[in-house]
Amino acid sequence: MSQPDPSVLEEIGQLRVALNDANYRYYALDEPTLTDADYDRQLQRLQQLESEYPDQVVPDSPTQRVGSAPTEGFPEVAHAIPMLSLDNAFSRDDIVAFAQRVAERLECQVDDIEFSCEPKLDGAAVSLVYEQGVLVIGATRGDGRTGEGITSNLRTLRSVPLKLVGDELPALVEVRGEVIMRHSGFEALNERAREEGSKVFANPRNAAAGSLRQLDPRITATRPLEFHAYQAARLEPDLGDTTHSALMQRLSKLGFRTSTELTTMRGPEAVADYCDQLGAKRDQLGYDIDGVVIKVNDLRHQRELGFVARAPRWAVAFKFPAQEEVTTLNDVEFQVGRTGAITPVARLEPVTVAGVTVSNATLHNADEIIRLGVMIGDTVAIRRAGDVIPQVVRVDEEKRPADARAITFPDHCPVCGSDIERLEGEAVARCSGGLYCAAQRKEALKHFASRKALDIDGLGEKLIEQLVDQEWVKTPADLFHLSVEQLKSLPRMGEKSATNLVNALEKAKQTTLARFIYALGIREVGEATAANVANHFGTLQALQDADQAALEAVNDVGPIVAKHIHTFFRQPHNLETLQVLIEAGITWQESEVTQGPTPLEGQTWVLTGAMESMTRDEGKARLQALGAKVAGSVSKKTTCLVAGEAAGSKLTKAEQLGVEVIDEATFIDRLTAWERSE
Ligand code: IVH
Repeated sequence: MSQPDPSVLEEIGQLRVALNDANYRYYALDEPTLTDADYDRQLQRLQQLESEYPDQVVPDSPTQRVGSAPTEGFPEVAHAIPMLSLDNAFSRDDIVAFAQRVAERLECQVDDIEFSCEPKLDGAAVSLVYEQGVLVIGATRGDGRTGEGITSNLRTLRSVPLKLVGDELPALVEVRGEVIMRHSGFEALNERAREEGSKVFANPRNAAAGSLRQLDPRITATRPLEFHAYQAARLEPDLGDTTHSALMQRLSKLGFRTSTELTTMRGPEAVADYCDQLGAKRDQLGYDIDGVVIKVNDLRHQRELGFVARAPRWAVAFKFPAQEEVTTLNDVEFQVGRTGAITPVARLEPVTVAGVTVSNATLHNADEIIRLGVMIGDTVAIRRAGDVIPQVVRVDEEKRPADARAITFPDHCPVCGSDIERLEGEAVARCSGGLYCAAQRKEALKHFASRKALDIDGLGEKLIEQLVDQEWVKTPADLFHLSVEQLKSLPRMGEKSATNLVNALEKAKQTTLARFIYALGIREVGEATAANVANHFGTLQALQDADQAALEAVNDVGPIVAKHIHTFFRQPHNLETLQVLIEAGITWQESEVTQGPTPLEGQTWVLTGAMESMTRDEGKARLQALGAKVAGSVSKKTTCLVAGEAAGSKLTKAEQLGVEVIDEATFIDRLTAWERSE
């Protein structure tokens, strides 16, 4: 046996350190440091060197084990049968070579071997043990021999049966599979994290693994996780199934979700075609897969083939191109969303990620920029998968050039120039331009025209989009200058609808101060707050002049809302827009300023059923103007329930709880009396 060169020994040592470290970060910390492609490349190189110099193989080499030791916090679970890994195939040739190895051992023709193919799910591997049909243990893979007991967490997944289905249940079943998070759930979870300023996950696999390792199962329960079964590690007594595919059907009957993509076929060419087809469909699945697991279908053949050190001989993982690649961050631009949220967007040196050219990726928010520690000029890892927005997942600080620049968050909106607000404790920075900001124009107009705002009949979403796209309407004030002539030239708009719309606009000009304030779309100023503010200040001018302290004196207005209102009225553009709206003819009855506490302050009312003399919204507005809160459901805290015609379950509940119930006539009497006494 030849003694390796010192440089080879050094390379082996370096690869082991790098791979062990990557393993630890990937499995134990859920914080990957290498791209999958890099990891696979380095592992393959180590495998190659170890096969050239078998004397150098040591038991703790990354080629000899899977994952790393479990971290503290969960009980250890020893796997009765080790949870192994799979060898990889990267090409058609690799698939053919695998089939040939199998055929040689089984002494048969490659084209006679039946394979079962299914997606290689990219999530977290877990094992579930059922005794007499009841789930007793759920565990992570850990290092393959010992995992972490996360039974309470796994019990929170609806796709994990707590009890198996059927009459004749095996005494012992151990099912293995993958816990995944779909793209939709992942995006929603990250969106929530962004809003709350908590950590965003780099990919659905990390989100799944991180969610499973929560010490509080109640947190796991809120995460959109799914368990997909792909193996029966133990089944006692054996139910007589002779193939993997039959066993999967059995698992499905016992209550498990198994792959809908599972297909059986003969010969390596058919397998390779399946891999191509699934690869083409990969982006449409709605969840991450990183390849195809190809298994010899016949269970007797599987037993005959057995295992080598870390993987079975009867299976191989065909790996798709990695969804992470490395490139340079050329610049960062700031985009303004439809609600004014400012999102930093990475402009990248174009790079092909899983077959698609990526030149932009999201950096989510200011906190994420700090968490990543990223600078302009940095070498960054980019990830794209299916419908998930490409994102920057890591920075290689060692490759940072001398002229790297820090990313500075703007103070002013890149679209309209208004101040950008970022409140303490909030992760999102927002443009305060509201009605004025072109990026927010369509949303702002929809809100302005909505039922609880100016209630412009016939001005729906579609029409607003057309008006903005035609550039006829830039600010809400422009709405009031639209003519019948102009409108009827729009597709699907006749003379009659155009006239109706112009009339509706005319009618909407006569409004209330509360509706007008609500229509402005100031952040966190809903209809109740708008009513309170209108009631408190009486005039738009008084509201405009109010300082923060004066705003905080309003019922239900805290420091955050006060700051939003204050900032809104400090933007010259907003004042201009207000001016133009008033010039366009919007008017309201100026009301008297309410002094001191309002008569219904501290009370909570609920309205149910239909009333004859007013709509529920009107009743609600009048109650709010008197200082009451109006809730949607009855509880112990409800002061009074107004029951209109055909009141249902709310009435029953109020009666059960002994809450006062009044009819419409009594309600109107009381309202009028209170309104007079104010
Ligand atoms: S079968 C003896 N089937 O891939 C091992 N594994 O590298 C049998 N995986 O961590 C595994 N999808 O969690 C199998 N359909 C599938 C799979 C799958 C994902 C994971 C598995 C393991 C890794 C193996």
